[in-house]
Amino acid sequence: MRVTTQPIAGQKPGTSGLRKKTNVFMSEGYLENFIQSIFDATGGANGKTYILGGDGRYFNQHAAQTILKMAAANGAKRVIVGQNALLSTPAASHLIRLNAADGGIILSASHNPGGPEEDFGVKFNTANGGPAPEAVTEAIFARTQAIDEYFIADEIDVNLSRIGSQHIGGMAVSVVDPVSDYAALMETLFDFAAIRAMFAGGFRMRFDAMCAVTGPYAKEIFETRLGAAPGTVVNAVPLPDFGGMHPDPNPTWAHDLMGHMFAADGPDFGAASDGDGDRNMVVGRNTYVAPSDSFAVLAANAHLAPGYRAGLKGVARSMPTSTAVDRVAEALGIGAHETPTGWKFFGNLLDTGRATFCGEESFGAGSDHVREKDGLWAVLLWLNILAEREESVSEIMRAHWSRFGRTYYSRHDYEALPNAVADGVMDSLRSRLGDLPEQTVEGMKVASAEDFAYTDPVDGSVSRGQGLRIVFEGGARAVLRLSGTGTEGATIRLYLERHATGPDGLDAEVQEMLAPVIRAAEALTGIREVTGRAGPDVIT
Ligand code: G1P
Ligand code: ZN
Repeated sequence: MRVTTQPIAGQKPGTSGLRKKTNVFMSEGYLENFIQSIFDATGGANGKTYILGGDGRYFNQHAAQTILKMAAANGAKRVIVGQNALLSTPAASHLIRLNAADGGIILSASHNPGGPEEDFGVKFNTANGGPAPEAVTEAIFARTQAIDEYFIADEIDVNLSRIGSQHIGGMAVSVVDPVSDYAALMETLFDFAAIRAMFAGGFRMRFDAMCAVTGPYAKEIFETRLGAAPGTVVNAVPLPDFGGMHPDPNPTWAHDLMGHMFAADGPDFGAASDGDGDRNMVVGRNTYVAPSDSFAVLAANAHLAPGYRAGLKGVARSMPTSTAVDRVAEALGIGAHETPTGWKFFGNLLDTGRATFCGEESFGAGSDHVREKDGLWAVLLWLNILAEREESVSEIMRAHWSRFGRTYYSRHDYEALPNAVADGVMDSLRSRLGDLPEQTVEGMKVASAEDFAYTDPVDGSVSRGQGLRIVFEGGARAVLRLSGTGTEGATIRLYLERHATGPDGLDAEVQEMLAPVIRAAEALTGIREVTGRAGPDVIT
């Protein structure tokens, strides 16, 4: 069935897909226009195979039914969809690769809350399993501005709860168990026997799935396959509103997990994941592990896991992510790449073997086993390392810092600012960048200041305006950029970093250690005065 439509403003994908308020996505033609634009901008759906699934948030199933009917009407050959339209983002990436599919559509607004009043999102991944690169998202956006028709099959809904094959017209719909292929992949990478033995020896873990998509995956992998005690996985049932939680695994939103890990007789190891399962937070007993540190530890110890015994070919991190992993790469004698924020920039590095591990400060780490960051993968690698080293998380952190020094790091977020105010802060600093080198601010001398641009070493594409970076003498850094994942107003992220070596520098309080950098960054940006805020809304 052909439906006449007209362009809808604002369908520009951000850092990770198109995210909007759920009611915007549910408004007439909104989802349909965007999906048709994906097909149109990628050479049409005719004869193609897609993977489809989402994080289970409100509107997930309904959107999946619409997309199936549209794929059928556009001539797709087959869509492989997770049972009940569930697939974690890394599992979807794996299925694209496993089935040599032409692409995948993932329904998620990641760590943003879900529900009728909250957020919904659509991400398009290409045949390599990774998020569509900028050239593709730009083409999709361009198409949304010109679209005048979409196609949708006039058929009843398929039964997404029944595993097996069905049809919509001439298109096959294969409903698959969302967990099994992904769990099998994990078994090829990690020493399940060693981890199972550790659990059998009394090792205790708490995994908080935050009522989001990782619940079924975590239950199967940790409790069933690895023998962790029943009840290890909490908030294990994916709910349309994530049980009212904000499924973002950081100390603020996963405060319940933090409480357990810092209680007397807490578990040995704690972890949480986000809405769609690509993020992770890791906590030891009485020991919070900052994401950039976690990534560095994973890189330094990767060889302890069977899948990485041969060593890493290289590592990559987003520019604002702390430089902790660079020191590991140096020690290992492997390449370290620096990309703009967002997993899509890692795709070419992974595809060409320039990087085996990639990481972001925003609780994201992953490897070339898929083309997305992968929360459970990071947790399993930590478990494998713990099983091999037979040390606690805090002992491992301490040993890491004594060897490489400690990179104190924090992100200060100023959220829901009026767009003009946020742009004002950015524009003002940007216009002064050229004058900053050699200036001393709050006792800190500026070594360099730039508007970060990235040239992809594989396809030569250039991405500009990826964050304002100020490096001080001695290597401390402040980075300022606008978030590309919000759905209301603008969020400024201020990333702060300072490296310390020697036993005296390892035990300081993070914000205290960063205080001079924070003062200098605030003076340079005037962020408190201009925004009228007393301070950041969220500190991670
Ligand atoms: C945020 C994170 C970024 C991550 C993205 C998707 O994007 O900062 O590292 O890749 O979510 O999970 P931002 O809101 O900063 O654009
Ligand atoms: Zn996510």
